[in-house]
Amino acid sequence: MRVKRLSPAAFTPRRAAAVLAACVLTLTNTAGAFAQTAGSFRAELAVRADRPRGTINKNIYGHFAEHLGRLVYGGLWVGEGSNIPNTRGLRNDVLAALKRLNVPVLRWPGGCFADEYHWRDGVGPRGQRPRRPNASWGGVDTNAFGTHEFMDLCELLGAEPYVNGNLGSGTPQEMMEWIEYMTSDSDSTLANLRRQNGREKPWRVPYFAVGNESWGCGGEMRPEFYADEYRRYATFVKSHSGNQIQKLAVGSQSDYYEWTEVLMSRAAKQMDGLSLHYYTLPTGDWGKKGSATEFGERDWHATLVRTLRVEEFIEKHSAIMDKYDPQKKVGLMVDEWGTWYDPAPGRDTGALYQQNSLRDAVVAGINLNIFNNHSDRVRMANIAQVVNVLQAMVLTDGERMLLTPTYHVFEMYKVHQGATLIPVELTAPEYRLGQSSVPALQASASRDASGALHLSIVNLDPNRAAQVSMKVDGATPRNITGRVLTAQAVNAVNTFERPEAVRPAPFTNFKAEGGATTLSLPSKSVVVLELR
Ligand code: AHR
Repeated sequence: MRVKRLSPAAFTPRRAAAVLAACVLTLTNTAGAFAQTAGSFRAELAVRADRPRGTINKNIYGHFAEHLGRLVYGGLWVGEGSNIPNTRGLRNDVLAALKRLNVPVLRWPGGCFADEYHWRDGVGPRGQRPRRPNASWGGVDTNAFGTHEFMDLCELLGAEPYVNGNLGSGTPQEMMEWIEYMTSDSDSTLANLRRQNGREKPWRVPYFAVGNESWGCGGEMRPEFYADEYRRYATFVKSHSGNQIQKLAVGSQSDYYEWTEVLMSRAAKQMDGLSLHYYTLPTGDWGKKGSATEFGERDWHATLVRTLRVEEFIEKHSAIMDKYDPQKKVGLMVDEWGTWYDPAPGRDTGALYQQNSLRDAVVAGINLNIFNNHSDRVRMANIAQVVNVLQAMVLTDGERMLLTPTYHVFEMYKVHQGATLIPVELTAPEYRLGQSSVPALQASASRDASGALHLSIVNLDPNRAAQVSMKVDGATPRNITGRVLTAQAVNAVNTFERPEAVRPAPFTNFKAEGGATTLSLPSKSVVVLELR
């Protein structure tokens, strides 16, 4: 996406009016409260259907399930004997909700947990599986949910499995044997053990990661050491029986560029993907991250400033990758991203359970637009995490379940999966607070196999609606439909008592004007349009 900032040189009478409206109608407010202003700003948007780029990898819409808090146990897995309706132990309500998202890929079993997980604990008769302390996140893991249960979940969802191996506390042999157990169709002892445990045919495992955050919870390694370890372990990650396994290396977090430089210079030939982790904290301070629901305009703005930084990280890591891999064979896998807040008072700090508000929906829309626009290098992204942990799709409480505002964004954006990226050019004012500013609008677009164009636009401004003059180059759409996600309050949430307080509504606020269409986007909203 190209965003043009309005500069004096670019002034036309119309743009001058836009800036004037922006200045007059927004009261600068650096304190907590939101500016109580109505009004709108103007913007221009060109959808460049005449300049299609590559494909948006469907895996950008991927998810992540770690043994953490109430994600696996309670959120996905309730066991066959549960009163909660389930399919072979997996709760039906969550399955049905996730199926509607077309989950393309699911990462498991961690996260930090991956580097303490030993796969043999989670296969064989459930009653005989060992109970192990979850050293990363607390509690005891019964291992009731293991390889077979995860693969069953993936098959029920139609998602591709992304298995994260244990480099931190496991051996290359253990890693190699797990892959053989899962994917070999031979008459080997491990393939036969899988059959004995109930699965005749091997599974497809297209993605396998060699460790997780090896610079941190995965072993506190230096990049040089990890690069050597990666090469050693990756040698034993084999493709069996026609399963083409992609090997993913641990990448950096945020701006740890030295890690990327060392990994790419020493191991690019041995990898298919390199990860990137980036979490959005309203304050940027891990000691006091900020509340999920109690925030003012300063936190809203700071959250958006911080989440937009992912674009800078993608661009700079990609530039390093380009030096060693100009043909872009190695994918950048943003396999952990999302908001991370302080736990609500009284909540278990290790469980990472948090509410999810309209602000999270806006964050999700922004990130997905950025990933779409960088899909030449970004081949996968996995929001953290799918149920009951961090920026979740669904929250559960016993037998109750709700869909979060972030869920709705994923559901609205699923049209981009596997579609052709269409560039967009935006001319929009800034949403400014104090000395800091972000673009007021942010967007991406695609064209699907049927020829329909899909445009997703986020209005980051919590106070002003946007009047967007849209034109489409290279196509003449005759029909526009769309949906909008917004709410009265910036911190509106869905609760078990009011599970549909934030949900998408039809978007009809547009009209044709000459060669252009004017869209009226509400403040703090996410809109997805289909143009045919
Ligand atoms: O998603 C929670 C944790 O965040 C993951 O386990 C870890 O990889 C990251 O630090």
